[in-house]
Amino acid sequence: MMSLKNINPTQTESWKNLESHFKEIKNVEMKSLFQKDKNRKENFTVAFNEFTLDYSKNRITEETLQYLYKLADESELKDAIEKYFGGERINVTENRAVLHTALRNRNNNAIKVDGKDVMPEVRKALEKMNTFSEAVINGTYKGYSGKKILDIVNIGIGGSDLGPRMVVDALQYYKNHLNTHFISNIDGDHVTEILKNLNPETTLFVIVSKTFTTQETLTNAMTVKNWFLSQEFGTKESDIKHNFVAVSTNLSNVKEFGIADENVFTMWDWVGGRYSLWSAVGLSISLAVGYGHFNSFLKGAFEMDEHFKNTPFKKNIPVVLALLSIWYNNFFKTESEVVIPFSQYLEKLPPFLQQLSMESNGKSTDRNGDSIDYQTGNIIWGNTGTNVQHAFMQLVHQGTKIIPVDFIGFEESLHGLKDHHEKLMANFYAQAEALYAGKTKDEVYLDLKFQGNVDKINQLLPFKVFEGNKPSNAILIKKLTPENLGALIAMYEHKTFVQGVIWNIYSFDQFGVELGKELAHKFLKK
Ligand code: F6P
Repeated sequence: MMSLKNINPTQTESWKNLESHFKEIKNVEMKSLFQKDKNRKENFTVAFNEFTLDYSKNRITEETLQYLYKLADESELKDAIEKYFGGERINVTENRAVLHTALRNRNNNAIKVDGKDVMPEVRKALEKMNTFSEAVINGTYKGYSGKKILDIVNIGIGGSDLGPRMVVDALQYYKNHLNTHFISNIDGDHVTEILKNLNPETTLFVIVSKTFTTQETLTNAMTVKNWFLSQEFGTKESDIKHNFVAVSTNLSNVKEFGIADENVFTMWDWVGGRYSLWSAVGLSISLAVGYGHFNSFLKGAFEMDEHFKNTPFKKNIPVVLALLSIWYNNFFKTESEVVIPFSQYLEKLPPFLQQLSMESNGKSTDRNGDSIDYQTGNIIWGNTGTNVQHAFMQLVHQGTKIIPVDFIGFEESLHGLKDHHEKLMANFYAQAEALYAGKTKDEVYLDLKFQGNVDKINQLLPFKVFEGNKPSNAILIKKLTPENLGALIAMYEHKTFVQGVIWNIYSFDQFGVELGKELAHKFLKK
């Protein structure tokens, strides 16, 4: 079987080098590194299209990076990337290829799974999304009573919810007149609250479930169907085909639910749930912002794919991010990473990244089937700046833990309120600076003295000191466009991939979610 190589990272020469190098560097002040290298910021910055990653505020030297790149080489990352893009069955435990990248491929080359080019089917599926979304948006597609569609309800959970929900929110600025809603939780409050204000005549329900067996989605879909068929509306079974569509690989279950064949959007087993927003799972995105923007979103992701595939590791944004993350997770033993987008539009990015990263890399068995004795997947959390500064940043600045941060900012705003954007970005830079530079006793002393707080100096001084030397990455993007959003998500997908390769785990299964599901069925029967 062609699979990723089985290499225990801790047995590599570079890992051993990193362990001894860590002892030398763990207490080094980043400030001294900046003093030694006047070009540190430029030296530790990589650019790609409208992205710039400044990773100079990390506890690394050129030597650290050399060992990390060597670790990537020793882990045969290059070979893994080729297999990933090449359609090989690298998801060994589910015997599947991993080809979400084919969904956004813009090359004319064939992408083969078991010798068969998947691209014609991909193009056909995208074309169907295009035609359907445009008909709904321009009103030629009608609900059962002949009225135009005004509301879209996505029913799905996990990858069939988090991706589309996040992107629809993130691209709100580009949105058309359709109202989009999402039902995911099995908690009946969720579906009840959403249905409360809907008119069945003008609502399109998009049931998204790759397997069409997920308890939450089927329960919610059934409740919606019963509501739709309730007597007060005078609807009948044959009306369902006008107001319900499905996205799934399980065509027989979809049919049994009552959805017409022509209303089914297919996907493939080589698209993992948490990587599926590029497929018809993204139908609510295409409905909400139009296929043109959806297409640009795919294009942006494709460009990040090309960057990831073809750029040497040193200049490769996802690779650099993954290696830094491994450095902190496995050597500094940090437990979590915080992602802070300085854009309200990206409020739902952290929960999306939680599934992407934690469902992929939360594993403790290696590719040889052995138990792992080093740390793998880290905890991802976050929220938007500046809100977080009035919430959890206290702990990041002055707490006992090292929590590496990804700050994501945009040079230009979409709204055009100059004053707001200047203040927002001043905070973006200030947070990274505060984490890096901290505030010494002397600085605090002078401050208190200046404020005339002489009596309180001794009492307050220790509480006002900021240790500093806390790591962060600054990801600066020109503007929140569909292209750049696509590239940003693809960037995190590839970061997750690189980490999984080096940790020697299978990133594309999720058996860890099964036990709870089984037990819930047992409890239900009691
Ligand atoms: O949570 C487990 C999981 O299998 C996810 O990986 C997936 O995104 C989600 O359930 C939903 O699955 P489906 O699309 O098959 O309903």
